[in-house]
Amino acid sequence: MPIDVAARVIANRPLSSDYNVLALAAPSIAAAAAPGQFVMLKASGSGNPLLRRPFSVFEILRDAAGSAIGLSILSKRIGVSTSLLYEAREGQRIDCLGPLGQPFTIAEPPTEGWMIAGGVGLAPFATLAAALRSRGVKSTLFYGARRAEELFYLDFFRELDVTLVLTTEDGSAGERGRVVAPLDRKLAALSPTDSVMLYACGPEGMLAATARTAMKYQRTCEVSVERIMGCGLGGCYSCVVPMRGDDGTFHHVRSCLAGPVLQADQIKWD
Ligand SMILES: Cc1cc2nc3c(=O)[nH]c(=O)nc-3n(C[C@H](O)[C@H](O)[C@H](O)COP(=O)(O)OP(=O)(O)OC[C@H]3O[C@@H](n4cnc5c(N)ncnc54)[C@H](O)[C@@H]3O)c2cc1C
Ligand code: FES
Repeated sequence: MPIDVAARVIANRPLSSDYNVLALAAPSIAAAAAPGQFVMLKASGSGNPLLRRPFSVFEILRDAAGSAIGLSILSKRIGVSTSLLYEAREGQRIDCLGPLGQPFTIAEPPTEGWMIAGGVGLAPFATLAAALRSRGVKSTLFYGARRAEELFYLDFFRELDVTLVLTTEDGSAGERGRVVAPLDRKLAALSPTDSVMLYACGPEGMLAATARTAMKYQRTCEVSVERIMGCGLGGCYSCVVPMRGDDGTFHHVRSCLAGPVLQADQIKWD
């Protein structure tokens, strides 16, 4: 059952002029959240915005004894809600409903976990990287951004023994270009007996390219899709994704319930 709390802002850390990490006191949601799940947030008590917005759980915040005390979200400012979250002040209350949706499947050794993130699509991978590490799964993060200043939390992932493969569109860090290019090369170099599980989150074009690359090399891939979500609870049908059923025909699923994590090879990409 999702939990609804008026979560106190513990801290708000700007990372750039449009990215921030917002820490919220929501212990019961944090304790129940699995990597890939999301929360629906509303930063204002007014009618603007009217609806909550979906955000991946970025980090689970813990006290010295290891108990969950809250969660953080990594937010990119694009509109009214994300602007309010960027400007949120310590002590302010944010309506927070969650955890929602289906999480990633955590790989088992010797399968490796390869995470592919574009921009703010990094958000679900902090908790996933921690879960992979606690299971002893070797992991790699392919992380693409527009420029070097928008590659965040690199030391966080290094501390979890995650191998980093970085790309930027302007070539200011890592390889110049899109993140799927090094992914394709690394998959091509793998022996068929090496087992790897792919996880992707980012813009739809990147997800489609990742899905096609995974299918080309016949590798399992889960993607976290970002549809506009009006409710997060299955009631409004704003979030549907066309998926192939067991009988080969396509039907629409509500990505807030069946996803946001979905099997890449079952989605109709075009
Ligand atoms: C499951 C899920 C997890 C998400 N996790 C994160 C996260 O961790 N961090 C983060 O910054 N964002 C995340 N998003 C996207 C986030 O929900 C949107 O950026 C947010 O709803 C925008 O709200 P707004 O009021 O600021 O912008 P609005 O004023 O509502 O929208 C501004 C513009 O962005 C478009 N837009 C809104 N939502 C989306 C969307 N989901 N996909 C594409 N275009 C959109 C609108 O059509 C409009 O053109 C996630 C989305 C989903 C579905
Ligand atoms: S967001 Fe309302 S049905 Fe999915």
